[in-house]
Amino acid sequence: MSYPVHRMRRLRRTESIRRMVRETSLSPSNLIYPMFVVSGKGIREEIKSLPGNYHVSPDMIVREISEIRKLGISAVLLFGIPEKKDSLATQAYSDDGVVQRAVQEIKEADTGVVVITDVCLCEYTDHGHCGIVKNGQLLNDESLELISRVALSHARAGADMVAPAAMLDGQIKAIRIILDQNGFPDTAIMAYSVKYASILYDMFFKEGVKTVLKFGDKSTHQMDFSNSDEAMREIMLDIEEGADIIMVKPALFYLDIVYRAKNEFKMPLAVYNVSGEFAMVKSMAREGYADETSLCREIFVSLRRAGADLIITYHAKEMARELLKFQQG
Ligand code: PBG
Ligand code: ZN
Repeated sequence: MSYPVHRMRRLRRTESIRRMVRETSLSPSNLIYPMFVVSGKGIREEIKSLPGNYHVSPDMIVREISEIRKLGISAVLLFGIPEKKDSLATQAYSDDGVVQRAVQEIKEADTGVVVITDVCLCEYTDHGHCGIVKNGQLLNDESLELISRVALSHARAGADMVAPAAMLDGQIKAIRIILDQNGFPDTAIMAYSVKYASILYDMFFKEGVKTVLKFGDKSTHQMDFSNSDEAMREIMLDIEEGADIIMVKPALFYLDIVYRAKNEFKMPLAVYNVSGEFAMVKSMAREGYADETSLCREIFVSLRRAGADLIITYHAKEMARELLKFQQG
């Protein structure tokens, strides 16, 4: 049976009908907003290359969080920019580090927003690499010790979830063990399971966390973007080691990976719509090639359709605002 019995256009005739048969939803609760915490007091400065995103000091963060809560955004993902960087990233696991202080502030305010912390050393090392470096090499097992200390200090401050970002082997296991040994069996782990060595992180580094890679690149720990089966092995290992939520990063160029990840593992799945992706949207909008929120909506629905439950995006606030309008309208 086909045309004229079947007419696909019948269910596309009006917006009300289209809404009835829409297969994919997008709501503010799918969104996670990344935030950049700096040391100091009374600071709230827009990040030039990430318009709508700010460097905020710990004392100013609760106000920001209240806005996020009102918009219905589920969670924030905190990054720290320490006052001083050094070769052992000591500010990353200090109890009065910027992220630790920000988490304490947010938790005291009891806003209901889920607090996730990025756990990596590259924002805190003077060379910009994700762990301890010796003779130009990133050491795996030695770095795990520091990375698990970072996770523990975030859990102590009150983080709901920690998000290990370094792509080192065994990092999920090391963190799960140290959290359990120290009385934090309920602190969840959102694993950056599949993080590709991508050109799309540059803006984040230069202006977001003010880090410069002094030598080399990240291709000995982040994934080669030519590979897909390997991504599934990364996820499998993270799940075995204790990941509660898995992540694919970047997002838009990797929809095949997102689709496979959801289908093969049926785990809660986050995607990170990274700084370079944000910049592409901004540039198109600035040139007048497309409307910014329409672009965002199409991108985020595509990510959801591919299988993502959660989307980490610098556009979270604008998108949530738009979605709330749409619901009411
Ligand atoms: C590492 C980290 C990076 C990003 C988020 N966490 C950089 C990297 O892994 O090289 C990139 C995010 C973005 O570009 O938006 N802590
Ligand atoms: Zn890193």
